[in-house]
Amino acid sequence: MNPVQIVSHPLAQRHLTALRDVETPTERFTWHLNRLAELLFLEASRDLPAEEVPVKTPLAETAGVRLAKPIVLCPILRAGLGLLDAVRPMVPEARVAHIGLARDETTAEAHSYYAKFPDGMAEAEVFLLDPMLATGGSAVEGVRQLQVAGATSIRFVCVVSCPQGIETFQKAHPEVPITTAAVDAGLNLQSYIVPGLGDAGDRYFGT
Ligand code: PRP
Ligand code: URA
Repeated sequence: MNPVQIVSHPLAQRHLTALRDVETPTERFTWHLNRLAELLFLEASRDLPAEEVPVKTPLAETAGVRLAKPIVLCPILRAGLGLLDAVRPMVPEARVAHIGLARDETTAEAHSYYAKFPDGMAEAEVFLLDPMLATGGSAVEGVRQLQVAGATSIRFVCVVSCPQGIETFQKAHPEVPITTAAVDAGLNLQSYIVPGLGDAGDRYFGT
């Protein structure tokens, strides 16, 4: 099983603090989530396969690097778009898959309402993006759909997680590494992460 990678860098934790703050308005929430997404993606992509390529500077030839495999970014709609918005400019060549999942408000079960995948999933390094790992139902279903679409190398990036979500996810997909900014205490009766940051989609989109 992959260990959970917790990004404890103070710059990341400062963004997370602003996201948690109930007084942070939508436009600041958006900005902090985007900045934190960049830092999380940087860590989650640290071990991407790369290969050496020659590059000519104005003065000499030297060794450079290029990514060895194509990248696919896959936000879980809606809130995952808050991570995609920031990560996409970091890898503009990446193709984008979409998975639409909504939790039932009473059971917290994730229901699938949309999915679209680019060709070449099997060869790609795939990043599943969703700010919240609560019960784990959405992330487990997201990885399942990616695997059905052919993905063989998947990483999951989230902002806030909790022990229940991590356990459920790792039981279902022990091969998929998790990168997160926090492992919070647990879930409340409505299956929201506590202390968490509230409803990530509502706060990002101002709904
Ligand atoms: C939220 C969040 C995750 C999911 C996490 O989405 O963005 O996708 O809940 O909860 P889970 O781990 O218990 O499945 P939500 O269903 O609220 O939809 P939204 O992003 O459209 O607001
Ligand atoms: N979805 C959210 O947006 N927040 C939570 O705490 C749990 C699920």
